[in-house]
Amino acid sequence: MTTTIDCVPLAATVGAEVRGVDAERLAADGAVAEAVLAALERYGVLVFRGLHLAPEDQVAFARRLGEIDYEPGHHPVRGIYRVTLDKSKNASADYLKATFEWHMDGCTPLHGEPPQKATVLSAKQVAEGGGETEFASTYAAYEALGDAERERFGALRVVHTLEASQRRVHPDPTPEQLERWRARPSSTHPLVWTRRTGRRSLVVGVHADHVVGMDAGEGRALLRDLLDRTTAPGRVYRHEWSVGDTVIWDNTGVVHRAAPYPPDSPRELLRTTVFGDEPIR
Ligand SMILES: [Fe+2]
Repeated sequence: MTTTIDCVPLAATVGAEVRGVDAERLAADGAVAEAVLAALERYGVLVFRGLHLAPEDQVAFARRLGEIDYEPGHHPVRGIYRVTLDKSKNASADYLKATFEWHMDGCTPLHGEPPQKATVLSAKQVAEGGGETEFASTYAAYEALGDAERERFGALRVVHTLEASQRRVHPDPTPEQLERWRARPSSTHPLVWTRRTGRRSLVVGVHADHVVGMDAGEGRALLRDLLDRTTAPGRVYRHEWSVGDTVIWDNTGVVHRAAPYPPDSPRELLRTTVFGDEPIR
Protein backbone atom coordinates (compact mmCIF):
# COMPACT_ATOMS: atom_id res chain seq x y z
CA MET A 1 0.00 0.00 0.00
CA THR A 2 1.34 3.45 -0.87
CA THR A 3 1.21 6.04 1.88
CA THR A 4 -0.02 9.42 0.72
CA ILE A 5 0.08 12.72 2.56
CA ASP A 6 -2.50 15.47 2.44
CA CYS A 7 -1.06 18.41 0.43
CA VAL A 8 -2.81 21.76 -0.05
CA PRO A 9 -1.20 23.92 -2.78
CA LEU A 10 0.08 27.31 -1.58
CA ALA A 11 0.88 29.20 -4.79
CA ALA A 12 0.19 28.68 -8.49
CA THR A 13 3.51 27.09 -9.44
CA VAL A 14 5.25 26.20 -6.17
CA GLY A 15 4.61 25.02 -2.62
CA ALA A 16 2.09 22.97 -0.66
CA GLU A 17 1.12 22.74 2.96
CA VAL A 18 1.17 19.23 4.41
CA ARG A 19 -1.60 18.46 6.87
CA GLY A 20 -2.11 15.62 9.29
CA VAL A 21 1.49 14.52 9.80
CA ASP A 22 3.00 14.92 13.28
CA ALA A 23 6.68 15.15 14.23
CA GLU A 24 6.87 11.62 15.57
CA ARG A 25 5.52 10.04 12.41
CA LEU A 26 7.74 12.16 10.22
CA ALA A 27 10.84 11.06 12.13
CA ALA A 28 9.99 7.36 12.41
CA ASP A 29 7.82 6.34 9.44
CA GLY A 30 9.80 5.46 6.32
CA ALA A 31 6.64 5.38 4.21
CA VAL A 32 5.92 9.01 5.13
CA ALA A 33 9.43 9.99 4.06
CA GLU A 34 8.80 8.31 0.69
CA ALA A 35 5.55 10.25 0.32
CA VAL A 36 7.37 13.47 1.24
CA LEU A 37 9.92 12.86 -1.53
CA ALA A 38 7.14 12.33 -4.07
CA ALA A 39 5.35 15.49 -2.92
CA LEU A 40 8.62 17.46 -3.08
CA GLU A 41 9.07 16.42 -6.70
CA ARG A 42 5.61 17.74 -7.44
CA TYR A 43 5.43 20.92 -5.34
CA GLY A 44 9.08 21.91 -4.78
CA VAL A 45 8.38 23.21 -1.27
CA LEU A 46 6.48 21.57 1.59
CA VAL A 47 5.31 23.45 4.66
CA PHE A 48 4.48 21.82 8.01
CA ARG A 49 2.97 24.45 10.27
CA GLY A 50 3.46 24.21 14.03
CA LEU A 51 5.23 20.87 13.78
CA HIS A 52 7.74 21.56 16.61
CA LEU A 53 10.14 19.00 15.28
CA ALA A 54 12.95 18.28 17.78
CA PRO A 55 16.46 18.68 16.32
CA GLU A 56 17.20 14.95 16.76
CA ASP A 57 13.94 14.07 14.97
CA GLN A 58 14.74 16.50 12.18
CA VAL A 59 18.04 14.72 11.60
CA ALA A 60 16.37 11.28 11.75
CA PHE A 61 13.75 12.40 9.22
CA ALA A 62 16.26 14.04 6.86
CA ARG A 63 18.37 10.88 6.99
CA ARG A 64 15.43 9.01 5.43
CA LEU A 65 15.53 11.40 2.47
CA GLY A 66 19.21 10.68 1.72
CA GLU A 67 22.78 11.18 2.97
CA ILE A 68 23.01 14.27 5.11
CA ASP A 69 25.66 16.88 5.90
CA TYR A 70 27.23 16.28 9.32
CA GLU A 71 29.72 19.16 9.16
CA PRO A 72 29.80 21.04 12.49
CA GLY A 73 27.01 23.60 12.42
CA HIS A 74 27.32 25.64 15.62
CA HIS A 75 24.74 23.38 17.28
CA PRO A 76 25.13 20.47 19.74
CA VAL A 77 23.12 18.04 17.57
CA ARG A 78 25.15 16.57 14.69
CA GLY A 79 23.44 17.23 11.38
CA ILE A 80 21.97 20.57 12.50
CA TYR A 81 23.31 23.89 11.23
CA ARG A 82 22.21 27.02 13.04
CA VAL A 83 21.08 29.81 10.69
CA THR A 84 21.35 33.18 12.41
CA LEU A 85 22.92 36.57 11.83
CA ASP A 86 24.07 36.57 15.47
CA LYS A 87 27.86 36.29 15.27
CA SER A 88 28.09 34.86 18.78
CA LYS A 89 26.07 31.87 17.57
CA ASN A 90 27.46 31.53 14.06
CA ALA A 91 30.82 32.88 12.96
CA SER A 92 29.83 32.59 9.25
CA ALA A 93 26.91 34.98 9.79
CA ASP A 94 28.40 37.45 7.30
CA TYR A 95 28.18 34.94 4.46
CA LEU A 96 24.51 34.36 5.21
CA LYS A 97 23.73 37.87 3.98
CA ALA A 98 24.11 36.56 0.44
CA THR A 99 21.00 34.44 1.14
CA PHE A 100 18.96 37.67 0.79
CA GLU A 101 19.37 37.20 -2.98
CA TRP A 102 17.71 34.49 -5.12
CA HIS A 103 19.91 31.42 -5.29
CA MET A 104 20.15 27.67 -5.47
CA ASP A 105 22.44 26.15 -2.86
CA GLY A 106 25.57 24.39 -4.04
CA CYS A 107 26.07 25.91 -7.52
CA THR A 108 29.72 26.73 -6.76
CA PRO A 109 30.91 23.60 -4.93
CA LEU A 110 34.48 23.22 -3.72
CA HIS A 111 35.09 19.82 -5.30
CA GLY A 112 32.45 19.51 -8.01
CA GLU A 113 29.83 17.88 -5.77
CA PRO A 114 26.27 17.97 -7.16
CA PRO A 115 23.97 20.55 -5.57
CA GLN A 116 22.14 19.58 -2.41
CA LYS A 117 19.00 17.56 -2.96
CA ALA A 118 16.87 19.00 -0.17
CA THR A 119 16.96 21.31 2.80
CA VAL A 120 14.92 20.96 5.98
CA LEU A 121 14.50 24.18 7.95
CA SER A 122 12.72 24.61 11.28
CA ALA A 123 11.99 27.85 13.11
CA LYS A 124 13.26 28.06 16.66
CA GLN A 125 12.95 31.83 16.95
CA VAL A 126 11.51 34.24 14.39
CA ALA A 127 12.19 37.85 13.44
CA GLU A 128 9.67 40.50 14.44
CA GLY A 129 10.01 42.06 11.01
CA GLY A 130 11.38 40.44 7.85
CA GLY A 131 13.05 37.07 7.63
CA GLU A 132 10.40 35.43 5.47
CA THR A 133 11.74 32.79 3.08
CA GLU A 134 10.66 32.94 -0.57
CA PHE A 135 10.66 30.21 -3.18
CA ALA A 136 10.16 30.00 -6.94
CA SER A 137 10.14 26.92 -9.15
CA THR A 138 12.88 26.58 -11.76
CA TYR A 139 10.87 23.78 -13.41
CA ALA A 140 7.94 26.17 -13.86
CA ALA A 141 10.41 28.75 -15.21
CA TYR A 142 11.50 26.37 -17.94
CA GLU A 143 7.94 25.35 -18.72
CA ALA A 144 6.99 29.01 -19.23
CA LEU A 145 9.52 29.42 -22.05
CA GLY A 146 8.47 29.46 -25.68
CA ASP A 147 9.75 26.86 -28.15
CA ALA A 148 12.36 29.18 -29.69
CA GLU A 149 13.74 30.06 -26.24
CA ARG A 150 13.85 26.42 -25.18
CA GLU A 151 15.85 25.63 -28.26
CA ARG A 152 18.21 28.57 -27.86
CA PHE A 153 18.77 28.23 -24.11
CA GLY A 154 19.27 24.48 -24.37
CA ALA A 155 22.67 25.15 -25.98
CA LEU A 156 23.94 27.73 -23.46
CA ARG A 157 26.42 27.21 -20.65
CA VAL A 158 26.77 29.52 -17.68
CA VAL A 159 29.68 30.22 -15.33
CA HIS A 160 28.70 30.42 -11.65
CA THR A 161 30.95 32.07 -9.05
CA LEU A 162 30.95 32.86 -5.37
CA GLU A 163 32.14 36.35 -6.32
CA ALA A 164 28.95 37.02 -8.30
CA SER A 165 26.80 36.30 -5.20
CA GLN A 166 29.02 38.11 -2.73
CA ARG A 167 29.30 41.24 -4.89
CA ARG A 168 25.57 41.78 -4.45
CA VAL A 169 26.13 42.08 -0.70
CA HIS A 170 29.54 43.77 -0.79
CA PRO A 171 29.65 45.91 -3.98
CA ASP A 172 33.01 47.44 -3.00
CA PRO A 173 35.07 44.49 -1.80
CA THR A 174 38.47 44.82 -0.21
CA PRO A 175 41.36 43.05 -1.96
CA GLU A 176 41.26 40.46 0.86
CA GLN A 177 37.57 39.75 0.26
CA LEU A 178 38.15 39.40 -3.48
CA GLU A 179 41.02 37.03 -2.89
CA ARG A 180 38.91 34.88 -0.59
CA TRP A 181 35.98 34.74 -3.05
CA ARG A 182 38.23 33.96 -5.99
CA ALA A 183 39.88 31.12 -4.11
CA ARG A 184 36.59 29.26 -4.58
CA PRO A 185 36.61 27.53 -7.99
CA SER A 186 33.98 28.69 -10.47
CA SER A 187 31.58 26.12 -11.93
CA THR A 188 30.19 25.92 -15.45
CA HIS A 189 26.67 24.50 -15.77
CA PRO A 190 24.23 24.19 -18.64
CA LEU A 191 21.48 26.82 -18.41
CA VAL A 192 18.91 24.07 -18.85
CA TRP A 193 19.24 21.06 -16.53
CA THR A 194 17.76 17.89 -17.98
CA ARG A 195 16.94 15.65 -15.06
CA ARG A 196 17.06 11.88 -14.81
CA THR A 197 13.29 12.01 -14.73
CA GLY A 198 13.27 13.79 -18.10
CA ARG A 199 11.99 17.05 -16.58
CA ARG A 200 13.90 20.24 -17.35
CA SER A 201 14.66 23.25 -15.19
CA LEU A 202 16.60 26.50 -15.44
CA VAL A 203 19.83 26.85 -13.47
CA VAL A 204 19.65 30.51 -12.47
CA GLY A 205 20.43 32.60 -9.41
CA VAL A 206 22.62 35.42 -8.18
CA HIS A 207 25.67 33.11 -8.51
CA ALA A 208 25.18 32.91 -12.32
CA ASP A 209 27.93 35.25 -13.50
CA HIS A 210 28.09 35.09 -17.29
CA VAL A 211 27.17 33.05 -20.34
CA VAL A 212 30.02 31.20 -22.06
CA GLY A 213 30.80 32.65 -25.49
CA MET A 214 28.39 35.58 -25.15
CA ASP A 215 29.27 39.24 -24.67
CA ALA A 216 29.54 39.68 -20.88
CA GLY A 217 26.96 42.46 -20.61
CA GLU A 218 24.50 40.71 -22.89
CA GLY A 219 24.90 37.44 -20.98
CA ARG A 220 24.35 39.16 -17.64
CA ALA A 221 21.23 40.89 -18.97
CA LEU A 222 19.86 37.55 -20.16
CA LEU A 223 20.59 35.84 -16.82
CA ARG A 224 19.02 38.74 -14.93
CA ASP A 225 15.91 38.63 -17.17
CA LEU A 226 15.52 34.87 -16.71
CA LEU A 227 15.87 35.19 -12.94
CA ASP A 228 13.30 38.00 -12.91
CA ARG A 229 10.86 35.91 -14.91
CA THR A 230 11.48 32.86 -12.70
CA THR A 231 10.76 34.90 -9.58
CA ALA A 232 7.96 37.17 -10.85
CA PRO A 233 5.50 37.91 -8.01
CA GLY A 234 2.81 35.48 -9.22
CA ARG A 235 5.36 32.65 -9.25
CA VAL A 236 6.61 32.96 -5.68
CA TYR A 237 5.60 31.35 -2.41
CA ARG A 238 6.61 33.47 0.58
CA HIS A 239 6.74 31.68 3.91
CA GLU A 240 6.07 33.79 6.98
CA TRP A 241 7.65 31.88 9.82
CA SER A 242 6.03 31.00 13.11
CA VAL A 243 7.95 29.22 15.84
CA GLY A 244 7.66 25.46 15.29
CA ASP A 245 7.20 25.60 11.50
CA THR A 246 9.23 23.23 9.35
CA VAL A 247 9.76 23.83 5.65
CA ILE A 248 11.41 21.39 3.24
CA TRP A 249 12.42 22.27 -0.27
CA ASP A 250 13.80 20.52 -3.30
CA ASN A 251 16.94 22.59 -3.76
CA THR A 252 17.38 21.27 -7.31
CA GLY A 253 13.99 22.50 -8.50
CA VAL A 254 13.58 25.89 -6.82
CA VAL A 255 15.49 29.08 -6.13
CA HIS A 256 15.06 30.63 -2.71
CA ARG A 257 15.97 33.72 -0.71
CA ALA A 258 15.39 35.18 2.73
CA ALA A 259 13.82 38.60 3.15
CA PRO A 260 16.30 40.87 4.98
CA TYR A 261 16.01 41.13 8.75
CA PRO A 262 17.98 43.14 11.30
CA PRO A 263 21.35 41.71 12.40
CA ASP A 264 20.28 41.88 16.05
CA SER A 265 17.12 39.88 15.34
CA PRO A 266 16.57 36.76 17.46
CA ARG A 267 15.65 34.82 14.27
CA GLU A 268 17.11 31.35 14.53
CA LEU A 269 16.39 28.55 12.10
CA LEU A 270 17.77 25.03 12.33
CA ARG A 271 18.83 23.56 9.03
CA THR A 272 19.59 20.04 7.90
CA THR A 273 20.99 19.51 4.43
CA VAL A 274 20.42 16.39 2.34
CA PHE A 275 23.29 15.84 -0.10
CA GLY A 276 22.57 15.74 -3.81
CA ASP A 277 23.21 12.72 -5.99
CA GLU A 278 22.50 14.21 -9.42
CA PRO A 279 25.08 16.38 -11.22
CA ILE A 280 23.79 19.32 -13.29
CA ARG A 281 23.91 18.32 -16.97
FE1 LIG B 1 20.27 28.94 0.63
